Amino acid sequence: MINLRKKLVALYVCIIFTLNALNAQNPLTIPPVLSGSTIQLSLGNGSVQFYPGQITQTMGVNGNFLGPTLILDQGQQVQMQVTNVLSDTSTIHWHGMHVSPTNDGGPHIYIPPGSTWSPSFTVLDNASTYWYHPHLHHKTNFHVMKGIAGMIIVKDPVEAALTLPRTYGIDDFPIIVQTRAFDSNHQIEVMTAMDTAVMVNGTLKPYLEVPAQRVRFRMLNGASERTFLFGLSGNQAFDQIGSDGGLLTAPVNMNRLMLSNGERAEIIVDFNGMEGQTIYLKSFASELPRAIYGAAQPGMGAGQTIPGYNQNPLNGADFEILEIRIIAPTANPVNILPAQLVTHTPWTETQADTTRTFTFMPANMGPTAIQGPFMINMGHFDMNVINEYIPFNNIEIWELVNQTPISHPFHIHDVSFYILDINGAVPPENMRGRKDVVLVPAGMGTVRFITQFETFYDDNWPYMYHCHMLTHEDDGMMGQFIVQSPPASVAPDFASQDEWTLFPNPTSGNCKIITEFIDSRSTIRIYDMKGNLMLAKALYETKTDIDLVELAPGIYICEYENEHGKQNRKLSILKP
Ligand code: C2O
Ligand code: CU
Ligand code: CU
Repeated sequence: MINLRKKLVALYVCIIFTLNALNAQNPLTIPPVLSGSTIQLSLGNGSVQFYPGQITQTMGVNGNFLGPTLILDQGQQVQMQVTNVLSDTSTIHWHGMHVSPTNDGGPHIYIPPGSTWSPSFTVLDNASTYWYHPHLHHKTNFHVMKGIAGMIIVKDPVEAALTLPRTYGIDDFPIIVQTRAFDSNHQIEVMTAMDTAVMVNGTLKPYLEVPAQRVRFRMLNGASERTFLFGLSGNQAFDQIGSDGGLLTAPVNMNRLMLSNGERAEIIVDFNGMEGQTIYLKSFASELPRAIYGAAQPGMGAGQTIPGYNQNPLNGADFEILEIRIIAPTANPVNILPAQLVTHTPWTETQADTTRTFTFMPANMGPTAIQGPFMINMGHFDMNVINEYIPFNNIEIWELVNQTPISHPFHIHDVSFYILDINGAVPPENMRGRKDVVLVPAGMGTVRFITQFETFYDDNWPYMYHCHMLTHEDDGMMGQFIVQSPPASVAPDFASQDEWTLFPNPTSGNCKIITEFIDSRSTIRIYDMKGNLMLAKALYETKTDIDLVELAPGIYICEYENEHGKQNRKLSILKP
Protein backbone atom coordinates (compact mmCIF):
# COMPACT_ATOMS: atom_id res chain seq x y z
CA MET A 1 0.00 0.00 0.00
CA ILE A 2 2.72 2.40 1.03
CA ASN A 3 4.69 1.32 -1.98
CA LEU A 4 1.76 1.98 -4.29
CA ARG A 5 1.33 5.43 -2.80
CA LYS A 6 4.98 6.15 -3.30
CA LYS A 7 4.67 4.99 -6.86
CA LEU A 8 1.67 7.22 -7.42
CA VAL A 9 3.48 10.21 -6.00
CA ALA A 10 6.49 9.39 -8.16
CA LEU A 11 4.22 9.07 -11.19
CA TYR A 12 2.56 12.39 -10.43
CA VAL A 13 5.91 14.14 -9.99
CA CYS A 14 7.08 12.56 -13.19
CA ILE A 15 4.01 13.82 -15.09
CA ILE A 16 4.50 17.36 -13.80
CA PHE A 17 8.17 17.15 -14.66
CA THR A 18 7.57 15.93 -18.18
CA LEU A 19 4.89 18.52 -18.74
CA ASN A 20 6.95 21.57 -17.94
CA ALA A 21 10.40 20.23 -18.79
CA LEU A 22 10.60 18.72 -22.18
CA ASN A 23 12.70 15.55 -21.94
CA ALA A 24 12.91 15.74 -25.71
CA GLN A 25 13.07 12.41 -27.49
CA ASN A 26 11.66 12.98 -30.93
CA PRO A 27 13.28 14.77 -33.86
CA LEU A 28 11.04 17.63 -34.93
CA THR A 29 8.99 16.71 -37.98
CA ILE A 30 9.70 19.11 -40.83
CA PRO A 31 6.63 18.86 -43.07
CA PRO A 32 7.39 18.06 -46.71
CA VAL A 33 7.03 20.87 -49.24
CA LEU A 34 4.53 21.19 -52.08
CA SER A 35 4.85 23.91 -54.69
CA GLY A 36 4.09 24.50 -58.34
CA SER A 37 0.96 25.44 -60.23
CA THR A 38 -1.13 22.45 -59.14
CA ILE A 39 -1.23 21.35 -55.55
CA GLN A 40 -3.00 18.19 -54.48
CA LEU A 41 -4.17 17.90 -50.93
CA SER A 42 -6.01 14.91 -49.60
CA LEU A 43 -7.83 15.14 -46.27
CA GLY A 44 -7.98 11.76 -44.64
CA ASN A 45 -8.03 9.70 -41.48
CA GLY A 46 -4.79 8.41 -40.04
CA SER A 47 -3.22 7.07 -36.91
CA VAL A 48 -0.06 7.92 -34.99
CA GLN A 49 1.80 6.35 -32.03
CA PHE A 50 2.33 9.46 -29.94
CA TYR A 51 2.67 7.29 -26.86
CA PRO A 52 4.65 4.04 -27.19
CA GLY A 53 2.38 1.14 -28.07
CA GLN A 54 -0.73 3.34 -28.17
CA ILE A 55 -2.55 4.05 -31.41
CA THR A 56 -4.14 7.49 -31.63
CA GLN A 57 -6.74 8.09 -34.33
CA THR A 58 -5.87 11.26 -36.22
CA MET A 59 -6.65 13.22 -39.36
CA GLY A 60 -4.09 14.60 -41.75
CA VAL A 61 -3.42 16.10 -45.14
CA ASN A 62 -1.53 13.76 -47.52
CA GLY A 63 -0.49 11.79 -44.45
CA ASN A 64 -1.39 10.77 -40.93
CA PHE A 65 -1.14 14.07 -39.11
CA LEU A 66 -0.97 17.75 -40.10
CA GLY A 67 -0.05 18.53 -43.70
CA PRO A 68 2.67 19.58 -46.13
CA THR A 69 4.06 23.11 -46.24
CA LEU A 70 2.90 24.90 -49.38
CA ILE A 71 5.50 27.23 -50.87
CA LEU A 72 3.98 29.74 -53.29
CA ASP A 73 5.36 32.66 -55.28
CA GLN A 74 3.63 36.00 -55.31
CA GLY A 75 2.06 36.49 -58.73
CA GLN A 76 1.84 32.82 -59.60
CA GLN A 77 -1.37 31.09 -60.56
CA VAL A 78 -2.17 28.07 -58.42
CA GLN A 79 -4.82 25.43 -58.64
CA MET A 80 -5.55 23.61 -55.41
CA GLN A 81 -7.15 20.20 -55.65
CA VAL A 82 -8.49 19.35 -52.24
CA THR A 83 -9.91 15.85 -52.06
CA ASN A 84 -11.87 14.84 -49.00
CA VAL A 85 -11.47 11.17 -48.12
CA LEU A 86 -12.68 11.69 -44.55
CA SER A 87 -16.09 10.33 -43.70
CA ASP A 88 -16.99 13.87 -42.66
CA THR A 89 -17.71 17.03 -44.66
CA SER A 90 -14.98 19.63 -44.24
CA THR A 91 -13.56 22.79 -45.84
CA ILE A 92 -10.07 24.22 -46.31
CA HIS A 93 -9.44 27.90 -45.68
CA TRP A 94 -6.21 29.69 -46.74
CA HIS A 95 -5.78 31.73 -43.58
CA GLY A 96 -4.40 35.20 -44.26
CA MET A 97 -4.44 34.96 -48.05
CA HIS A 98 -6.19 37.56 -50.18
CA VAL A 99 -8.47 35.44 -52.38
CA SER A 100 -12.07 35.71 -53.61
CA PRO A 101 -14.86 34.50 -51.30
CA THR A 102 -15.50 31.36 -53.37
CA ASN A 103 -11.79 30.45 -53.18
CA ASP A 104 -11.52 31.31 -49.49
CA GLY A 105 -12.79 27.99 -48.12
CA GLY A 106 -15.02 29.41 -45.40
CA PRO A 107 -17.95 27.51 -43.86
CA HIS A 108 -20.10 27.83 -47.01
CA ILE A 109 -17.57 26.17 -49.29
CA TYR A 110 -18.25 22.54 -48.33
CA ILE A 111 -16.14 19.66 -49.49
CA PRO A 112 -18.42 16.64 -49.03
CA PRO A 113 -16.78 13.25 -48.40
CA GLY A 114 -15.49 11.71 -51.61
CA SER A 115 -15.40 14.97 -53.52
CA THR A 116 -12.67 17.34 -54.71
CA TRP A 117 -12.72 21.11 -54.40
CA SER A 118 -10.54 22.86 -56.98
CA PRO A 119 -10.15 26.58 -56.33
CA SER A 120 -7.77 28.40 -58.63
CA PHE A 121 -6.30 31.79 -57.89
CA THR A 122 -3.41 34.19 -58.30
CA VAL A 123 -1.20 34.56 -55.25
CA LEU A 124 -1.45 38.26 -54.39
CA ASP A 125 0.06 38.17 -50.91
CA ASN A 126 3.36 39.52 -49.70
CA ALA A 127 6.13 37.18 -48.66
CA SER A 128 5.07 35.87 -45.28
CA THR A 129 3.83 32.87 -43.35
CA TYR A 130 0.20 31.84 -43.73
CA TRP A 131 -1.59 28.59 -43.01
CA TYR A 132 -4.49 26.40 -44.03
CA HIS A 133 -7.07 24.69 -41.90
CA PRO A 134 -10.69 23.46 -42.01
CA HIS A 135 -13.53 25.90 -41.36
CA LEU A 136 -16.73 23.87 -41.18
CA HIS A 137 -19.09 25.57 -38.75
CA HIS A 138 -19.24 23.73 -35.37
CA LYS A 139 -16.47 21.35 -36.52
CA THR A 140 -13.44 23.61 -36.97
CA ASN A 141 -11.93 22.85 -33.58
CA PHE A 142 -12.48 19.10 -33.98
CA HIS A 143 -10.92 18.93 -37.45
CA VAL A 144 -7.94 21.13 -36.56
CA MET A 145 -7.24 19.31 -33.30
CA LYS A 146 -7.52 15.93 -35.04
CA GLY A 147 -4.67 17.13 -37.24
CA ILE A 148 -5.81 19.01 -40.33
CA ALA A 149 -3.59 22.07 -40.67
CA GLY A 150 -0.47 23.11 -42.51
CA MET A 151 1.77 26.06 -43.20
CA ILE A 152 1.87 28.25 -46.32
CA ILE A 153 5.01 30.20 -47.17
CA VAL A 154 4.67 32.94 -49.77
CA LYS A 155 7.82 34.28 -51.41
CA ASP A 156 8.23 37.56 -53.28
CA PRO A 157 11.06 39.50 -54.95
CA VAL A 158 11.35 42.10 -52.18
CA GLU A 159 11.96 39.41 -49.56
CA ALA A 160 14.27 37.52 -51.95
CA ALA A 161 16.53 40.58 -52.25
CA LEU A 162 17.16 40.72 -48.49
CA THR A 163 19.93 38.80 -46.73
CA LEU A 164 17.68 36.48 -44.76
CA PRO A 165 17.94 32.75 -44.09
CA ARG A 166 15.48 31.00 -46.42
CA THR A 167 16.64 27.43 -46.94
CA TYR A 168 13.69 25.38 -45.76
CA GLY A 169 14.59 22.82 -43.11
CA ILE A 170 18.22 24.04 -42.95
CA ASP A 171 18.13 27.62 -41.66
CA ASP A 172 14.41 28.39 -42.14
CA PHE A 173 12.01 26.27 -40.07
CA PRO A 174 8.24 25.98 -39.73
CA ILE A 175 7.31 26.05 -36.03
CA ILE A 176 3.61 25.18 -35.68
CA VAL A 177 2.86 25.20 -31.96
CA GLN A 178 -0.27 23.46 -30.69
CA THR A 179 -1.44 21.94 -27.45
CA ARG A 180 -3.77 18.97 -27.39
CA ALA A 181 -5.71 16.97 -24.86
CA PHE A 182 -5.60 13.18 -24.82
CA ASP A 183 -8.15 11.03 -23.03
CA SER A 184 -7.25 7.94 -20.99
CA ASN A 185 -7.32 5.86 -24.20
CA HIS A 186 -4.76 8.20 -25.79
CA GLN A 187 -7.34 9.63 -28.15
CA ILE A 188 -7.49 13.34 -29.01
CA GLU A 189 -10.18 15.06 -27.01
CA VAL A 190 -11.59 18.51 -27.73
CA MET A 191 -14.14 19.48 -25.10
CA THR A 192 -11.72 19.74 -22.19
CA ALA A 193 -9.35 22.26 -20.62
CA MET A 194 -6.64 19.57 -20.21
CA ASP A 195 -4.62 20.37 -23.32
CA THR A 196 -1.41 19.28 -21.60
CA ALA A 197 0.39 17.81 -24.64
CA VAL A 198 2.61 20.45 -26.26
CA MET A 199 3.40 19.72 -29.90
CA VAL A 200 5.47 21.38 -32.59
CA ASN A 201 4.66 20.40 -36.17
CA GLY A 202 2.68 17.53 -34.68
CA THR A 203 5.72 16.17 -32.79
CA LEU A 204 5.45 15.50 -29.08
CA LYS A 205 8.61 16.21 -27.03
CA PRO A 206 10.52 17.51 -30.03
CA TYR A 207 14.13 18.46 -30.51
CA LEU A 208 15.61 20.28 -33.47
CA GLU A 209 19.19 20.54 -34.64
CA VAL A 210 20.04 24.02 -35.89
CA PRO A 211 23.33 25.32 -37.30
CA ALA A 212 25.40 27.76 -35.23
CA GLN A 213 24.37 30.83 -37.24
CA ARG A 214 21.36 33.07 -37.77
CA VAL A 215 18.27 30.90 -38.21
CA ARG A 216 14.72 31.83 -39.15
CA PHE A 217 11.74 30.41 -37.26
CA ARG A 218 8.27 30.79 -38.74
CA MET A 219 6.14 30.75 -35.63
CA LEU A 220 2.46 29.86 -35.90
CA ASN A 221 0.10 29.52 -32.98
CA GLY A 222 -2.09 26.71 -34.29
CA ALA A 223 -3.59 25.90 -30.90
CA SER A 224 -7.28 25.91 -30.30
CA GLU A 225 -7.42 28.30 -27.34
CA ARG A 226 -4.01 28.81 -25.75
CA THR A 227 -1.93 31.97 -26.18
CA PHE A 228 1.86 31.51 -25.95
CA LEU A 229 4.41 33.99 -24.64
CA PHE A 230 7.43 32.70 -26.52
CA GLY A 231 10.99 33.20 -25.36
CA LEU A 232 14.30 31.36 -25.22
CA SER A 233 15.97 29.84 -22.19
CA GLY A 234 18.66 32.08 -20.73
CA ASN A 235 16.52 34.99 -21.91
CA GLN A 236 18.40 35.04 -25.18
CA ALA A 237 17.11 37.84 -27.40
CA PHE A 238 15.90 37.41 -30.99
CA ASP A 239 14.61 39.62 -33.79
CA GLN A 240 11.09 39.60 -35.13
CA ILE A 241 11.16 40.32 -38.86
CA GLY A 242 7.61 39.53 -39.96
CA SER A 243 4.01 39.61 -38.71
CA ASP A 244 0.91 37.87 -40.13
CA GLY A 245 0.85 39.43 -43.59
CA GLY A 246 4.43 40.40 -44.39
CA LEU A 247 7.80 41.61 -43.22
CA LEU A 248 8.10 44.47 -40.74
CA THR A 249 9.72 47.81 -41.56
CA ALA A 250 12.82 46.74 -39.63
CA PRO A 251 13.77 43.88 -37.30
CA VAL A 252 12.48 44.30 -33.75
CA ASN A 253 14.81 42.98 -31.05
CA MET A 254 12.96 41.32 -28.19
CA ASN A 255 13.03 38.46 -25.71
CA ARG A 256 9.30 37.79 -25.48
CA LEU A 257 6.83 37.25 -28.31
CA MET A 258 3.15 36.80 -27.60
CA LEU A 259 1.11 34.97 -30.22
CA SER A 260 -2.58 34.26 -29.85
CA ASN A 261 -4.47 31.70 -31.93
CA GLY A 262 -3.94 32.01 -35.66
CA GLU A 263 -1.18 34.62 -35.36
CA ARG A 264 2.19 34.19 -37.07
CA ALA A 265 5.57 35.81 -36.61
CA GLU A 266 8.90 35.24 -38.29
CA ILE A 267 11.89 35.55 -36.00
CA ILE A 268 15.65 35.36 -36.51
CA VAL A 269 17.67 33.75 -33.73
CA ASP A 270 21.43 34.18 -33.66
CA PHE A 271 23.12 30.89 -32.73
CA ASN A 272 26.62 32.04 -33.71
CA GLY A 273 29.31 30.65 -31.39
CA MET A 274 26.84 28.33 -29.66
CA GLU A 275 27.79 25.04 -31.32
CA GLY A 276 27.39 22.16 -28.89
CA GLN A 277 24.90 24.00 -26.66
CA THR A 278 21.27 23.10 -26.05
CA ILE A 279 18.65 25.74 -25.42
CA TYR A 280 14.86 25.74 -25.26
CA LEU A 281 12.03 27.54 -26.93
CA LYS A 282 9.63 28.13 -24.06
CA SER A 283 6.33 29.76 -23.24
CA PHE A 284 6.73 32.08 -20.28
CA ALA A 285 3.08 31.78 -19.41
CA SER A 286 3.75 32.90 -15.82
CA GLU A 287 4.30 36.35 -17.32
CA LEU A 288 1.08 36.40 -19.38
CA PRO A 289 -1.25 39.16 -18.23
CA ARG A 290 -4.45 37.90 -16.65
CA ALA A 291 -7.56 37.33 -18.76
CA ILE A 292 -5.64 35.62 -21.55
CA TYR A 293 -6.14 31.88 -22.08
CA GLY A 294 -2.91 30.33 -20.80
CA ALA A 295 -2.32 32.79 -17.95
CA ALA A 296 -2.73 31.79 -14.31
CA GLN A 297 -6.06 33.66 -14.34
CA PRO A 298 -8.08 33.25 -17.54
CA GLY A 299 -10.57 35.92 -16.50
CA MET A 300 -10.58 39.47 -15.21
CA GLY A 301 -11.25 38.35 -11.66
CA ALA A 302 -10.09 35.21 -9.84
CA GLY A 303 -13.71 34.04 -9.73
CA GLN A 304 -13.96 34.00 -13.51
CA THR A 305 -12.51 30.65 -14.48
CA ILE A 306 -13.06 27.72 -16.77
CA PRO A 307 -13.92 24.20 -15.49
CA GLY A 308 -10.70 22.18 -15.27
CA TYR A 309 -8.52 25.19 -16.10
CA ASN A 310 -6.73 25.36 -12.77
CA GLN A 311 -5.82 21.65 -12.98
CA ASN A 312 -3.87 22.16 -16.21
CA PRO A 313 -0.19 22.52 -15.25
CA LEU A 314 0.56 24.64 -18.34
CA ASN A 315 -1.65 27.50 -17.20
CA GLY A 316 0.34 30.30 -15.65
CA ALA A 317 3.54 28.23 -15.68
CA ASP A 318 6.67 28.47 -17.79
CA PHE A 319 7.11 25.39 -19.96
CA GLU A 320 9.46 24.12 -22.62
CA ILE A 321 8.17 23.72 -26.15
CA LEU A 322 11.16 22.75 -28.31
CA GLU A 323 14.66 21.60 -27.47
CA ILE A 324 17.16 23.30 -29.76
CA ARG A 325 20.48 21.48 -30.23
CA ILE A 326 23.07 23.66 -31.88
CA ILE A 327 25.32 21.92 -34.37
CA ALA A 328 28.05 23.04 -36.80
CA PRO A 329 27.24 25.96 -39.05
CA THR A 330 26.48 25.43 -42.74
CA ALA A 331 29.02 26.27 -45.44
CA ASN A 332 27.48 29.63 -46.33
CA PRO A 333 25.58 30.97 -43.36
CA VAL A 334 23.44 34.10 -43.81
CA ASN A 335 24.75 36.11 -40.91
CA ILE A 336 23.93 39.71 -41.76
CA LEU A 337 20.61 40.88 -40.44
CA PRO A 338 19.30 43.68 -42.69
CA ALA A 339 18.66 46.93 -40.82
CA GLN A 340 15.65 47.73 -43.00
CA LEU A 341 13.15 45.26 -44.42
CA VAL A 342 10.12 46.62 -46.30
CA THR A 343 8.23 49.90 -46.62
CA HIS A 344 4.73 50.18 -45.24
CA THR A 345 2.23 52.85 -46.23
CA PRO A 346 -0.74 52.20 -43.96
CA TRP A 347 -4.07 53.84 -44.71
CA THR A 348 -4.64 56.87 -42.56
CA GLU A 349 -7.72 57.59 -40.48
CA THR A 350 -8.65 60.53 -42.70
CA GLN A 351 -8.92 58.16 -45.67
CA ALA A 352 -11.54 56.01 -43.96
CA ASP A 353 -15.00 55.85 -45.53
CA THR A 354 -16.60 54.53 -42.39
CA THR A 355 -16.08 53.05 -38.93
CA ARG A 356 -17.84 49.87 -37.86
CA THR A 357 -18.02 48.78 -34.24
CA PHE A 358 -18.03 45.15 -33.13
CA THR A 359 -18.88 44.60 -29.50
CA PHE A 360 -18.13 41.24 -27.85
CA MET A 361 -20.47 40.20 -25.08
CA PRO A 362 -20.97 37.01 -23.10
CA ALA A 363 -24.24 35.20 -23.76
CA ASN A 364 -24.55 34.50 -20.02
CA MET A 365 -23.88 37.08 -17.35
CA GLY A 366 -22.34 36.32 -13.99
CA PRO A 367 -19.66 33.86 -12.91
CA THR A 368 -20.05 31.57 -15.94
CA ALA A 369 -19.75 34.40 -18.48
CA ILE A 370 -16.18 33.34 -19.28
CA GLN A 371 -17.32 29.92 -20.46
CA GLY A 372 -19.14 31.43 -23.41
CA PRO A 373 -20.82 31.35 -25.80
CA PHE A 374 -19.88 34.87 -26.82
CA MET A 375 -21.75 37.21 -29.11
CA ILE A 376 -20.59 39.83 -31.56
CA ASN A 377 -23.00 42.79 -31.74
CA MET A 378 -25.59 40.81 -29.77
CA GLY A 379 -25.70 37.99 -32.28
CA HIS A 380 -24.46 34.46 -32.76
CA PHE A 381 -23.23 33.23 -36.12
CA ASP A 382 -26.03 32.30 -38.50
CA MET A 383 -25.07 30.82 -41.88
CA ASN A 384 -28.11 32.57 -43.40
CA VAL A 385 -27.51 36.06 -42.07
CA ILE A 386 -25.08 38.50 -43.66
CA ASN A 387 -23.97 40.78 -40.84
CA GLU A 388 -22.17 43.48 -42.82
CA TYR A 389 -22.37 44.81 -46.37
CA ILE A 390 -19.20 46.56 -47.42
CA PRO A 391 -18.93 48.72 -50.53
CA PHE A 392 -16.16 47.53 -52.80
CA ASN A 393 -12.87 49.36 -52.23
CA ASN A 394 -14.10 50.89 -48.97
CA ILE A 395 -11.41 51.95 -46.55
CA GLU A 396 -12.77 51.14 -43.09
CA ILE A 397 -11.86 51.40 -39.46
CA TRP A 398 -13.08 48.45 -37.45
CA GLU A 399 -13.43 49.13 -33.76
CA LEU A 400 -13.49 46.04 -31.54
CA VAL A 401 -14.86 46.40 -28.04
CA ASN A 402 -14.48 43.49 -25.63
CA GLN A 403 -17.10 43.51 -22.89
CA THR A 404 -16.30 39.95 -21.82
CA PRO A 405 -13.97 38.78 -19.04
CA ILE A 406 -11.48 37.06 -21.42
CA SER A 407 -9.32 38.30 -24.31
CA HIS A 408 -10.32 37.20 -27.82
CA PRO A 409 -8.06 36.91 -30.90
CA PHE A 410 -10.15 38.58 -33.62
CA HIS A 411 -9.51 37.44 -37.20
CA ILE A 412 -10.82 38.73 -40.51
CA HIS A 413 -10.77 36.97 -43.88
CA ASP A 414 -10.00 38.62 -47.23
CA VAL A 415 -7.76 41.44 -46.03
CA SER A 416 -4.77 42.28 -43.86
CA PHE A 417 -5.03 45.33 -41.63
CA TYR A 418 -2.93 47.81 -39.73
CA ILE A 419 -3.63 48.23 -36.02
CA LEU A 420 -4.39 51.87 -35.16
CA ASP A 421 -4.50 51.39 -31.41
CA ILE A 422 -4.96 48.90 -28.59
CA ASN A 423 -6.72 50.32 -25.53
CA GLY A 424 -6.12 53.74 -27.07
CA ALA A 425 -2.35 53.33 -27.36
CA VAL A 426 -0.26 52.94 -30.52
CA PRO A 427 0.67 49.24 -30.85
CA PRO A 428 4.22 48.08 -30.08
CA GLU A 429 6.63 48.13 -33.03
CA ASN A 430 6.32 44.43 -33.80
CA MET A 431 2.55 44.88 -34.29
CA ARG A 432 2.82 47.75 -36.77
CA GLY A 433 3.08 45.51 -39.83
CA ARG A 434 0.29 43.75 -41.71
CA LYS A 435 -1.94 41.69 -39.44
CA ASP A 436 -5.00 39.48 -39.78
CA VAL A 437 -5.42 38.46 -36.14
CA VAL A 438 -5.33 40.77 -33.14
CA LEU A 439 -5.85 39.89 -29.49
CA VAL A 440 -8.53 42.16 -28.05
CA PRO A 441 -7.93 42.72 -24.32
CA ALA A 442 -10.64 41.68 -21.87
CA GLY A 443 -12.77 43.90 -19.67
CA MET A 444 -13.74 46.80 -21.97
CA GLY A 445 -10.55 46.49 -24.01
CA THR A 446 -10.58 48.09 -27.43
CA VAL A 447 -8.69 47.64 -30.66
CA ARG A 448 -9.06 49.73 -33.77
CA PHE A 449 -7.65 48.66 -37.12
CA ILE A 450 -7.83 50.05 -40.64
CA THR A 451 -8.05 48.19 -43.93
CA GLN A 452 -9.36 48.37 -47.46
CA PHE A 453 -11.73 45.86 -49.04
CA GLU A 454 -10.04 45.75 -52.41
CA THR A 455 -9.68 43.37 -55.40
CA PHE A 456 -12.62 41.04 -54.71
CA TYR A 457 -16.35 41.52 -54.49
CA ASP A 458 -19.21 39.09 -54.70
CA ASP A 459 -22.85 39.83 -53.96
CA ASN A 460 -23.60 36.22 -53.05
CA TRP A 461 -20.64 34.75 -51.19
CA PRO A 462 -19.49 36.17 -47.88
CA TYR A 463 -16.22 36.30 -45.98
CA MET A 464 -15.93 35.58 -42.25
CA TYR A 465 -14.70 37.48 -39.23
CA HIS A 466 -14.45 35.66 -35.93
CA CYS A 467 -12.68 34.89 -32.71
CA HIS A 468 -9.84 32.48 -33.53
CA MET A 469 -10.19 30.58 -30.27
CA LEU A 470 -11.72 27.64 -32.10
CA THR A 471 -14.13 26.76 -29.29
CA HIS A 472 -15.48 30.32 -29.34
CA GLU A 473 -15.72 30.33 -33.13
CA ASP A 474 -17.58 27.01 -33.17
CA ASP A 475 -19.92 28.37 -30.49
CA GLY A 476 -20.90 31.20 -32.83
CA MET A 477 -18.47 34.04 -32.10
CA MET A 478 -18.36 34.76 -35.81
CA GLY A 479 -20.03 36.95 -38.40
CA GLN A 480 -19.93 37.33 -42.15
CA PHE A 481 -19.62 40.18 -44.60
CA ILE A 482 -20.28 40.71 -48.27
CA VAL A 483 -18.09 42.99 -50.32
CA GLN A 484 -20.62 44.44 -52.73
CA SER A 485 -20.08 44.56 -56.46
CA PRO A 486 -19.14 47.99 -57.71
CA PRO A 487 -21.66 49.86 -59.85
CA ALA A 488 -21.58 48.86 -63.48
CA SER A 489 -19.42 51.22 -65.45
CA VAL A 490 -20.65 51.37 -69.01
CA ALA A 491 -18.79 53.42 -71.55
CA PRO A 492 -20.95 56.28 -72.88
CA ASP A 493 -21.20 54.86 -76.40
CA PHE A 494 -24.39 52.87 -76.46
CA ALA A 495 -24.84 49.64 -78.29
CA SER A 496 -28.60 49.34 -78.10
CA GLN A 497 -31.41 51.86 -77.82
CA ASP A 498 -31.91 51.01 -74.14
CA GLU A 499 -28.33 51.64 -73.07
CA TRP A 500 -27.86 54.19 -70.37
CA THR A 501 -25.16 55.18 -67.98
CA LEU A 502 -24.45 57.31 -65.00
CA PHE A 503 -21.20 59.12 -65.36
CA PRO A 504 -19.00 59.38 -63.45
CA ASN A 505 -19.76 56.52 -61.09
CA PRO A 506 -18.52 56.58 -58.34
CA THR A 507 -19.39 60.24 -58.08
CA SER A 508 -18.83 62.90 -55.49
CA GLY A 509 -22.25 64.40 -56.23
CA ASN A 510 -22.49 65.91 -59.70
CA CYS A 511 -23.03 63.33 -62.38
CA LYS A 512 -24.90 62.92 -65.64
CA ILE A 513 -27.35 60.36 -66.84
CA ILE A 514 -26.74 59.63 -70.48
CA THR A 515 -29.39 57.73 -72.43
CA GLU A 516 -29.64 56.67 -76.07
CA PHE A 517 -33.12 58.04 -76.58
CA ILE A 518 -35.92 59.73 -74.69
CA ASP A 519 -39.56 58.74 -74.50
CA SER A 520 -42.55 59.81 -72.44
CA ARG A 521 -41.68 57.43 -69.60
CA SER A 522 -37.98 58.27 -69.34
CA THR A 523 -37.29 58.70 -65.61
CA ILE A 524 -34.42 58.27 -63.21
CA ARG A 525 -34.95 57.31 -59.54
CA ILE A 526 -32.33 56.96 -56.81
CA TYR A 527 -33.02 54.73 -53.79
CA ASP A 528 -30.89 54.17 -50.74
CA MET A 529 -30.01 50.59 -49.71
CA LYS A 530 -33.08 50.44 -47.49
CA GLY A 531 -35.31 51.21 -50.47
CA ASN A 532 -36.17 54.84 -49.59
CA LEU A 533 -36.68 57.00 -52.65
CA MET A 534 -34.10 59.81 -52.47
CA LEU A 535 -34.59 61.49 -55.83
CA ALA A 536 -36.80 61.18 -58.93
CA LYS A 537 -36.37 63.09 -62.14
CA ALA A 538 -38.15 62.97 -65.51
CA LEU A 539 -35.73 63.02 -68.42
CA TYR A 540 -36.27 65.26 -71.45
CA GLU A 541 -32.83 65.11 -72.99
CA THR A 542 -30.31 62.34 -73.63
CA LYS A 543 -27.88 64.03 -71.24
CA THR A 544 -29.23 65.25 -67.93
CA ASP A 545 -27.30 66.64 -64.98
CA ILE A 546 -28.13 64.95 -61.67
CA ASP A 547 -27.27 66.74 -58.46
CA LEU A 548 -26.61 64.26 -55.62
CA VAL A 549 -24.57 66.56 -53.39
CA GLU A 550 -27.19 66.34 -50.65
CA LEU A 551 -26.89 62.55 -50.35
CA ALA A 552 -24.63 60.91 -47.79
CA PRO A 553 -21.68 58.92 -49.13
CA GLY A 554 -22.54 55.27 -49.71
CA ILE A 555 -24.10 52.87 -52.16
CA TYR A 556 -27.44 53.68 -53.82
CA ILE A 557 -29.65 51.93 -56.32
CA CYS A 558 -30.29 53.88 -59.47
CA GLU A 559 -33.39 52.89 -61.41
CA TYR A 560 -33.81 53.91 -65.03
CA GLU A 561 -37.22 53.54 -66.60
CA ASN A 562 -38.40 53.96 -70.19
CA GLU A 563 -41.11 52.44 -72.41
CA HIS A 564 -39.25 49.14 -72.46
CA GLY A 565 -39.16 48.71 -68.70
CA LYS A 566 -36.91 49.39 -65.74
CA GLN A 567 -33.31 48.61 -64.99
CA ASN A 568 -31.35 48.96 -61.74
CA ARG A 569 -27.70 49.73 -61.28
CA LYS A 570 -25.63 50.54 -58.25
CA LEU A 571 -24.39 54.05 -57.77
CA SER A 572 -21.65 54.90 -55.37
CA ILE A 573 -21.39 58.33 -53.83
CA LEU A 574 -17.99 59.19 -52.40
CA LYS A 575 -17.05 61.90 -49.99
CA PRO A 576 -16.46 65.16 -51.88
CU1 C2O B 1 -7.84 30.84 -39.51
CU2 C2O B 1 -11.53 32.02 -40.38
O1 C2O B 1 -9.70 31.35 -39.93
CU1 CU C 1 -8.75 33.19 -42.03
CU1 CU D 1 -13.03 34.28 -28.19
